[in-house]
Amino acid sequence: MSLHWNEMMSVGVPSLDADHRFLITLINHLNRAIGDVEEYLAVASVLRGVEDYAAVHFAREERLMLACGFPQFARHRQTHQGFITSLAALRHRYDQDRAGARDSLGFLNRWLIDHICSSDMGYRSWLVLQDAALAAVGPEPLFAPPGPEADWRQLTLLLAEDNLTLREILLTFLQGAGVRGDRVMMVAHADAARRALASGRVDLMLCDDDFEGGGLALIEHSRRAGLALPMVLLTTGGPDRRTAARAVGADATLDKPVSAAALVATLAALTAGLSLRG
Ligand SMILES: [Fe+2]
Ligand SMILES: [Fe+2]
Repeated sequence: MSLHWNEMMSVGVPSLDADHRFLITLINHLNRAIGDVEEYLAVASVLRGVEDYAAVHFAREERLMLACGFPQFARHRQTHQGFITSLAALRHRYDQDRAGARDSLGFLNRWLIDHICSSDMGYRSWLVLQDAALAAVGPEPLFAPPGPEADWRQLTLLLAEDNLTLREILLTFLQGAGVRGDRVMMVAHADAARRALASGRVDLMLCDDDFEGGGLALIEHSRRAGLALPMVLLTTGGPDRRTAARAVGADATLDKPVSAAALVATLAALTAGLSLRG
């Protein structure tokens, strides 16, 4: 079952509505990830994404409530902290015992709907018409790009990953950080990746270790062909694989399940000072 945002769920603040829509998208990924051939990697990545993005959203909401002098601020903040604690415990349980924790995932559906439709409605009428405070909470993406020198709306990314569910999850993480969806080229095998790289349009490549043709081989081949763009290997392989990736020319590695915060931090490090193709 997919959740859908509708106008009845609006809290009256466009940036917070956008955050809620984004969190609904993540929860829908979770529902689709259950039963996937790589269920653990998909579900565990989404759980990390919800944790990362919920923390940013809560901080934004709390800034606004404070700026407006919302009288139930302390209680509302407690519900946020309670969710972060429960979610961290669920993620930990899922990492230890996938089958046992699977049934608990429905908790996220219920919590999100309750958060938006009940808990957050408490501040709606209080914030309305408080224009000065509302102006202080900008429309920036959940994870803002690190600076004007790396405007991620201009970034063209190649995402080489053969699992469709994981690809869509990573795309959502990237969009949450301000990357434009139409600038993410997604491919499922090495030949398509090589063609995309040869087009000269790619600023940065994220490449799965296990995809058809091999992520390491693709990076090695690309470096031998003289391509200098930043390349990141996504891997479940641990320290040895990370060392091997560096040896063939990867600039960075990201562990799967992927954390949205780690993805954004890696992009920030690799795009600082990069001149984008536009
Ligand atoms: Fe909220
Ligand atoms: Fe809230």
